[in-house]
Amino acid sequence: MVGAALAGHFRDQGWQVQATTRRREQVDGAHPYLDLAVPNLDLPNLVLPGADMVILAAAVARIGDCEVDPATTQRINVTGTLAVANHMAGQGSHVMLLSSDKVFDGTLPLRDRYDNPSPACAYGRQKAAAEAGILALGDKGAILRLSKVLEPGLELLTGWARALALGKSITPFNDLYLAPVTVDLVARIAVHIADERAAGIYHCTGDEDRTYVELADILAASMGCDPALVQAISCEAAAMPAAARPRYTSLEMKVEQSRWGVAAPEFETTAKAILSRLADIKN
Ligand SMILES: NC(=O)c1ccc[n+]([C@@H]2O[C@H](COP(=O)([O-])OP(=O)(O)OC[C@H]3O[C@@H](n4cnc5c(N)ncnc54)[C@H](OP(=O)(O)O)[C@@H]3O)[C@@H](O)[C@H]2O)c1
Repeated sequence: MVGAALAGHFRDQGWQVQATTRRREQVDGAHPYLDLAVPNLDLPNLVLPGADMVILAAAVARIGDCEVDPATTQRINVTGTLAVANHMAGQGSHVMLLSSDKVFDGTLPLRDRYDNPSPACAYGRQKAAAEAGILALGDKGAILRLSKVLEPGLELLTGWARALALGKSITPFNDLYLAPVTVDLVARIAVHIADERAAGIYHCTGDEDRTYVELADILAASMGCDPALVQAISCEAAAMPAAARPRYTSLEMKVEQSRWGVAAPEFETTAKAILSRLADIKN
């Protein structure tokens, strides 16, 4: 999701973009083959040589998948990712890793970028390990940590919109939190990092953590639906592991604000930007 959107944004900014794929049938001039799960990657023959900028967006990004199969996901999210990072940096590329708020344990809001990582799940531990490898690249490595990225095509949101449009109830969690951003905001910061070949740690999250119920309420309102169709439930009933439901996911964005004028967006701003496009489902 994020990689495809970034490719479009970078093209719009005049960058020539190649986007790797692990699907043989999708390989062409603009889509070189790369499967990060393959041990001992034959990198010189697989990856575009001499790119100015490499964005590492490919990953197994589901917390549950990383819990269930930590060995395979470690190979993709850490070993393969860092092999590409080191190879491309060695060829002169600047490298940007997309990372996550899950490098922290979720016990504090607006986490400082220089706090020591404290991951509470396999996915977070893998991201923290990948980050360490990127930081070791020095002035050639950047980390862009994201909280929940929303876009209208997300299955959860389209499912809600379809149900509400039919007058059916939806059951969002009242104890699952997000500090969402749009993919457009992620792209804005990623382009700044790329343009400046900025190194170090960068953040892109909303300004506070609110619940999925609040997101659903905004959707129902934007669709003019009966608010009673939003029926809050607890994620504990859904047997969601504790590490997948941290109380806080927000990260501080002081550097992004002072350097590029990009502030952490308010919950309503992000929600309305996404949900107004979803509301069209009703029309
Ligand atoms: N979305 C969020 O809310 C969010 C939040 C924080 C951080 N992030 C990070 O942002 C990045 C992008 O996330 P996303 O939401 O765009 O994830 P996504 O939609 O699941 O996309 C992940 C991509 O990685 C590719 N991939 C998976 N295994 C691979 C392998 N073995 N070799 C090569 N490519 C492989 C997938 O390929 P296929 O298309 O072939 O399956 C897919 O295109 C990830 O690093 C994620 O951890 C995302």
